[in-house]
Amino acid sequence: MSVDLSTSIAGVKLPNLFFNASGVWCQQEAELTELLNSESGSLITKSATFEPREGNPSPRYLPLEHGSINSMGLPNEGYEYYLEYAKKYDYNNAKPLFISLSGLKLEDNIQMVTKFVEADLPCILEVNFSCPNVPGKPQLGYDMEGMAKALRTLAPIIKKPFGIKLPPYFDIVHFDQVAEICNSVDNLAFVTCVNSVGNGLAIDFETETVAIKPKDGFGGLGGQMILNTALANVNAFARRLKNGKQVIGVGGVTSGKEAFLHVLAGASAVQIGTQLKEEGPQFFARVKKELEDIMVAKGYKSLDDFRGKVKTL
Ligand code: DHB
Repeated sequence: MSVDLSTSIAGVKLPNLFFNASGVWCQQEAELTELLNSESGSLITKSATFEPREGNPSPRYLPLEHGSINSMGLPNEGYEYYLEYAKKYDYNNAKPLFISLSGLKLEDNIQMVTKFVEADLPCILEVNFSCPNVPGKPQLGYDMEGMAKALRTLAPIIKKPFGIKLPPYFDIVHFDQVAEICNSVDNLAFVTCVNSVGNGLAIDFETETVAIKPKDGFGGLGGQMILNTALANVNAFARRLKNGKQVIGVGGVTSGKEAFLHVLAGASAVQIGTQLKEEGPQFFARVKKELEDIMVAKGYKSLDDFRGKVKTL
């Protein structure tokens, strides 16, 4: 029996549900080419700012026993680089292209989305409301009024279906508030849950020293340790979003099993961060095979058979 891992996001077909989480394997064209040559179902570029950025001082990423910590500080080539990449991208390729934008202020996001709209390309925008690592810049995702204003401003400029990257939330009232804001924006087609769990601290027991250099060691947590927070956010939004709005799941996927759980919680696609960084793009072949094997064993033929069907007690 063969199973079907294909999915659609914002009305665009992906040959399978897996792609990279923005920030991993996607800052420069050589890395994006490796994603294209992998078994991923799509690819997304590094969050772009208006100007190129070096990011924070190193070490700024470290794998941990149960995940990772990072404070990269938005190193990227500047939006024009990703716009040029999107202009020359071969959209006949089966993999749709997602572009992540993370302006340091609303005006930057307005200017960047305007340039992408003017270029009239079939790429899909994921506007990042949740970078926790720029010193002095609180993330928009925890400012409900700021997020509502940004969405009300950007959505009519973008016009087409688009998505936003959200931070993890930890309170039911916040799930309700954010979902209400999202539901009020017609062309908001998906939310990507979750960005890293912001401002964790890893300390080495032997050396009594923090793991990364920026911000006295504070950085975003990813990987296995955030799986349950990610599943909760995916499911909370899958339950609350209306009119076909979708959830892309990200957080804690190290094998087909966690990917299965993300879909069961309601994810329509699954992004990979820490595990891709650690294992490289060959991870996509492994995770696909593992999810296919799980679906065969459980008798599911397509993602629709179990998406969002987690049982409650
Ligand atoms: C960075 C980290 C994030 O979690 C994010 O959403 C954007 C940028 C970074 O540190 O580069």
